[in-house]
Amino acid sequence: MIVPPTPENIGRAAELLRSGRLVSFPTETVYGLGADARNPEAVHRVFAAKGRPAKHPLIVHLAGVEALPRWARTVPSGALALADAFWPGPLTLILPKGANVPDVVTGGQDSVGLRVPAHVVARALLREFLALGGDGIAAPSANRFGGVSATTAQHVEEDFGDELALILDGGPCLHGIESTIVAFAGDEPVLLRPGALGIAELTRVLGRAPRTGGVGATRAPGMLATHYAPRTPARLLPREALLAALGGVGAPTGHIAVLAHSVTQPPLFEGTWFDAPGRGAEYAHELYANLRALDARAADEIWIEAPPDGPEWHAVRDRLRRATHRG
Ligand code: TXA
Ligand code: MG
Repeated sequence: MIVPPTPENIGRAAELLRSGRLVSFPTETVYGLGADARNPEAVHRVFAAKGRPAKHPLIVHLAGVEALPRWARTVPSGALALADAFWPGPLTLILPKGANVPDVVTGGQDSVGLRVPAHVVARALLREFLALGGDGIAAPSANRFGGVSATTAQHVEEDFGDELALILDGGPCLHGIESTIVAFAGDEPVLLRPGALGIAELTRVLGRAPRTGGVGATRAPGMLATHYAPRTPARLLPREALLAALGGVGAPTGHIAVLAHSVTQPPLFEGTWFDAPGRGAEYAHELYANLRALDARAADEIWIEAPPDGPEWHAVRDRLRRATHRG
């Protein structure tokens, strides 16, 4: 059930969480599917609802940086600097897990993902939850496993219907793309997932660029090649390839749905055409809503114009690569 984020509904949501139920709430990145992080049965219900494999760890959302020592065994100075600079905000830190963190939250790993979200509704919910004796709220993105993330309350309802006790409606998410994930094993920062917070910002605070991917890099369990994917087969086409393919669509043999940000719709094109914003942040803001809407057209294929190379498109490139991966 979708409800407005009134103080009463936020209070009710906190009580439902405390009683082991699932509540979806808005964050500045995407909607989360929340459970009491200290309650293993409740966290199990998140995995069941999403259809998510047990080894894919969840992010624990905290009311403030002061909660860190209750969840992390150690906090390297670089991690603390990032938390000070960017919390509340779209940054997740992977740190050695504290003593009382349930294994179900971390997928059995020795580390835990932590984030203090900035959305006013998420913050109010975390405060209420704390007042009721709760602590962290474990929440993955509120979508079915492998599917497109949710950036509105309606997206969450599409995926879960009445399976959730409550969906707090905070309107469309500000960023529209997930948090940036930085892991610390020892003192070295490693970028596990590009996201709403850019690498330049991380680098400014760390004094060096975080290590990314490559040989020997820690892979985030749950960072799959195929992810964020619509059900309709989707292809990523560089601008020239898209233009060439469209040229061949004089007499289309099927229904093609296109998401383009620089190519304009040819006059004779007869499929579905979505014009996406030409700037990275705005493109990201609408990305998941666009993918869901394109999917709903039940086309034979979705063709997506490949995004540009710049740093502001880094997270979008990552998501589109996974959304269009086959295999
Ligand atoms: O913006 C976000 O981060 C959203 C909002 C709701 O906060 N949450 C989100 O959660 O994107 P989820 O579960 O869809 O993605 C979390 C990612 C997963 O790929 C998971 O593998 C990784 O974080 N992760 C969580 N804990 C980890 C850990 N201990 N070690 C490595 N990776 C971890
Ligand atoms: Mg997700």
